Formats: sequence, C-alpha cells, structure tokens
Amino acid sequence: MKLCMIGTGYVGLVSGVCFSDLGNDVICVDKDKNKINNLKKGIIPIYEPGLEELALKNYKNKRLNFSTNLQESVKKSDVVFICVGTPTKKKGNNADLNQVYSVGKEISKSINNYKIIITKSTVPVTTGDVLEKIILKKAKKNSFSIVSNPEFLREGEAIRDFIYPDRIVVGANDTKSQRILKNLYSPLISKGAKYVSTKRRAAELIKYASNAFLATKITFINEIANLCEKTDIDVEDISIGIGLDNRIGSRFLRAGPAFGGSCFPKDTKAIVSTADKFNTNLSVIKTVIESNRKRSELLLKKINLILKNKIKNKKISFLGVTFKANTDDMRDSSSLKMIPYLSKKGAKIKYYDPTGEKKEFNKLKNVKFSKSIKESIEDTDLVIVHTEWNDFKSINFKKFSKNKKLIIYDLRNIFSPIKIKKLGFKYFGIGR
Ligand SMILES: NC(=O)c1ccc[n+]([C@@H]2O[C@H](COP(=O)([O-])OP(=O)(O)OC[C@H]3O[C@@H](n4cnc5c(N)ncnc54)[C@H](O)[C@@H]3O)[C@@H](O)[C@H]2O)c1
Repeated sequence: MKLCMIGTGYVGLVSGVCFSDLGNDVICVDKDKNKINNLKKGIIPIYEPGLEELALKNYKNKRLNFSTNLQESVKKSDVVFICVGTPTKKKGNNADLNQVYSVGKEISKSINNYKIIITKSTVPVTTGDVLEKIILKKAKKNSFSIVSNPEFLREGEAIRDFIYPDRIVVGANDTKSQRILKNLYSPLISKGAKYVSTKRRAAELIKYASNAFLATKITFINEIANLCEKTDIDVEDISIGIGLDNRIGSRFLRAGPAFGGSCFPKDTKAIVSTADKFNTNLSVIKTVIESNRKRSELLLKKINLILKNKIKNKKISFLGVTFKANTDDMRDSSSLKMIPYLSKKGAKIKYYDPTGEKKEFNKLKNVKFSKSIKESIEDTDLVIVHTEWNDFKSINFKKFSKNKKLIIYDLRNIFSPIKIKKLGFKYFGIGR
C-alpha cells in the first residue's frame, strides 16, 4: 500500500520504517527540514535500538522516503497517518490539538482520490469528529474516511512492539476503511497480534484508558513502597507476591521515581480534562496525577535525609537522566525536577547518560556531563541511580570510587542491598 506518515518523531518514524519493512511504500513527512535532510543522509534523529539498521535497509530499497512536502506526499498516498505531537496546552490540562488540526487542514487540500486519514497520535475522544468537519470544508463526502488507530509502542522497545503488538486497535465508523486497515495489518495479525475493530470514539478512549491504567499501576506500587519503607518490608517481594495473581499481572509493578516520559503525564491530564468536559469525575486518575506530582518532592526529601540536611557542596552523581532506559527522550523525566532542585541547593552534580549530554541541564549551575560512568562516580559522595540502563547493573563501585564513604541511592532497585553493604558502602533503595 502507499502510506504517508505525517510527523516523523518517535511514533511516525518507527511506524513508517516498520510499515516499509512489511513491503509498503512509505513517505515520512516532517516540517522540520533539518530532520528530513539528516534522515536522507542516514542520520536517525532519535535513539531507538534497531531503528537505524531497519531505516537504512528500507531507504536503500526505495520503499521508504522522506519529505517536507506534506501536500505532494498526501496526494501520492492512499493511507495517511497523522503522527504529530499532542502535548498538554500551556494553560490547563487539555491536550493541545493545534498540530493535528493544522495537518488536517493541509490534508483537506490534497484529496485527489479516496484516502483513509488516521490519527495515530494520541487524541481525545471526539477529535476524529472535529477532523472530519475540518476536512469536509474542502473535500467531498465519501472521498475520505477518518479512522483512529492509536499507537501503543514503548520507546526503547518500539520495533519489537510494532512487529509483535499485544493488540492492534482500529476505530472506524465505516466498513471500507476497516477492511483496508485489516489488510494493511494482516502480516502482524498472521503472527498472532489480536485485532480489535471498534468505533472511532472507542479507539480514541482505549488509548487514554490504557495509559491512565498503567500510570495508576505504577503510582499504586510507588505508594505501597512508601509503606514498605516504614515497615521494614522489601517492595520487590510485594511486587512478586501480588504480580503472580493473573488478575493483577506482574508488569508495571516496579516501584521507582515518579513516572515521566512523553505519554503518561500528559495523557492522564488529558483524559481527566476530557471527562470534565463531559461532566464525569475521574477521581482515581486525578489522585494518580497528584500522587505522582508529590513523588519527586518525596524522593528529594529522602535525599535530604540521606545527606543529613547538608546538600550544599555535596558531590552527587546521577546515573541516567532519561525517563527510562533505552531511549534518549527527556520529556517529563523526573530528573528534570530533581537535578535543578539539588543544583539550587548548592550540590555539585555530575551526570552520565548512555545517550549523551542533555541540553536541559546546560544552563544549571554546577551540573556537568561526564563521558563515562567512572568519571561520574569516582570522587562523588552520593550516587543516584535514576534510570535502569543495563550498563549500570554491573558497576564495580569498589574499583570506580575513591570515596570509602560512598552512598548509593538506587531509585530502580537494580542492586542487591546486601552486596553493596558488604562492599562497605551505604545503600538506600525504593521501598526496601
Ligand atoms: N513517544 C511515544 O512513545 C508514543 C507512544 C504512543 C503514542 N504516542 C503519541 O504519538 C504522538 C506523537 O508522539 P511522538 O513522541 O512521536 O512526537 P514527536 O514530538 O517525537 O514527533 C512529532 C513530529 O511531528 C512533527 N510535526 C509537527 N507538526 C507538523 C506538521 N504540520 N507537518 C509535519 N510534521 C509536523 C514534528 O516536527 C515532530 O518531528 C503523540 O500524540 C503521542 O502522545 C507517542
């Protein structure tokens, strides 16, 4: 099929590359000229394992192309995916749909034959209805269908998630587009992916309800971890003990810092504000948002306690600053709250991240990027393991650190407290 992805970010690029690998002709469009020029030179703008190889292979095979010309690309395509950002509005909790609607206006000028126009971006219930009205201003009825096909890929495992998804959700109000989409996804369905065909509004809500539920699970175990710390229980035992119940499931029961990333924070806010519009109180999700907001403050208080209220001039090393491992995405990472706070309190911070230096910290006082784990921790007082990269799991603290009184605050519980204590260092984890 001839496909066009509008917005070549984490979602548009990964799905465009994977669709081309399944044998489709794909044009990835972005308004960012620099990004498109780089992609044409084989430079991938994001860190995502396996993406570069797959992109280069399909670009060479000419099944994958890149363009800044939205209208021409739409004209050449039968199926158009909208994959632009839907961040939180500057004021309030609503999703900002300006990017989606402005793309919709442009698409409406390029409808030269029947098109299926799909929101792959996460969009609130009724966005498809509004998009339909926008496009009807320029295009004829029956010359297009608006479909919702939300994306569930996880950064860091995006290729695998695309090829082996738990489920594919397609929300369409007509049978023609359902038939075409089922055909597009047939290589994945034949490998075992479950296909959920539903109405458009239901598909829109499935995405938000999924993310809100996962955010709730994380927040739940984080609060249980707080109780574990007071009662001398290891939260890891609780996660195993409850996760083995099939009704609960073991995933997303790892206690840690506040959840972050490009999806959960903004999507929990957006579903609550959508529900408010429809006079429905999503009180559970509101509590999740509030609990998560307080989580970074709580961890910072704990750092204060660990350092006996003497943060000034303390050398602190952060291992990993992205919101999770295997991605370079900094959006809403809890490190963005923790590092500026500690820098303001006078700490001297070095951070190491496998995906390199982060512009977000460039202007902060006494915050420096280290080129290696060793450089980051060799003369530090406190190591904070912020992100669960495999690179950190086998650190030899005895070899790397000159400080015999080193303290380790393991926000991901990746180390054995007993082993660290045996080395003579002080260890703090989450819910342990
Ligand atoms: N990142 C994830 O893990 C993930 C997972 C599932 C769903 N989503 C959802 O997918 C959507 C996209 O997320 P993302 O992380 O890929 O965003 P992103 O910010 O990485 O990428 C969006 C891209 O769209 C481009 N763009 C914006 N306006 C444009 C226009 N008018 N024409 C062409 N290009 C334009 C931007 O330049 C940018 O490159 C969001 O709604 C998000 O919630 C994201």
